[in-house]
Amino acid sequence: MAKKGLIIVIEGLDGAGKTTVAKWLVEYFRSRGYKALYTYEPNESLFVDALKKHGDVRSAELDALAYAADRLVHVRKVILPAIEDGYIVIVDRYYYSSIAYQGAQGAPIEWVMEVNKYAVKPDLAIYIDVDPVTGLERLARESNRKPRFPEYEKINLLKKVREIYLSLVERGELIFIDGSRDLESVKQDVLNTILSRFRSWFST
Ligand SMILES: Nc1ncnc2c1ncn2[C@@H]1O[C@H](COP(=O)(O)OP(=O)(O)OP(=O)(O)O)[C@@H](O)[C@H]1O
Ligand SMILES: [Mg+2]
Repeated sequence: MAKKGLIIVIEGLDGAGKTTVAKWLVEYFRSRGYKALYTYEPNESLFVDALKKHGDVRSAELDALAYAADRLVHVRKVILPAIEDGYIVIVDRYYYSSIAYQGAQGAPIEWVMEVNKYAVKPDLAIYIDVDPVTGLERLARESNRKPRFPEYEKINLLKKVREIYLSLVERGELIFIDGSRDLESVKQDVLNTILSRFRSWFST
């Protein structure tokens, strides 16, 4: 039987560097001969489109439910089959995003956790920390960018999101990485965290 893979989640505010780091990790692991997959949430446009279609009745709770449904499909159709097949799966946002963003918008955090309880716990979840201003400034520098979720890119909301992420770090749910440094340092720090955490996985 093939060795089971790993689920590694990358979390953080808008512009923290999640997608850049996640895609780089996948390239790195592939270049070392491992099977690696980049995937992201929200995953399927179906659920996101439903939220946009019903924008007039949107709320933190409705968002949380739609993302939880999207997540369960993503877990069952993409993530679990890949780890059974031995892939290192790098997931760009996961249920911690629901806890942090929908929590910041007023959904009860314990309830958000409850509706996500059927989503498999990842082997490791990394939080790349930046302050909201830095994150949004980075995104503003991208010329052709069309944000998927402009409604979340507001400083006051992101300050609350960051507080919740930091509380998850304190609870031991997320591993803290300082994302305010140069990109190369952030990448190496994330990589070293993964390699040291799964030393025996990589050596067998
Ligand atoms: N440590 C860093 N220093 C400077 N620039 C960075 C750093 N990390 C990422 N960037 C740049 O910031 C921009 C945003 O990065 P990226 O798209 O990876 O963020 P993200 O966390 O995926 O954001 P989003 O939540 O909006 O998807 C990119 O142009 C990227 O090159
Ligand atoms: Mg991204």
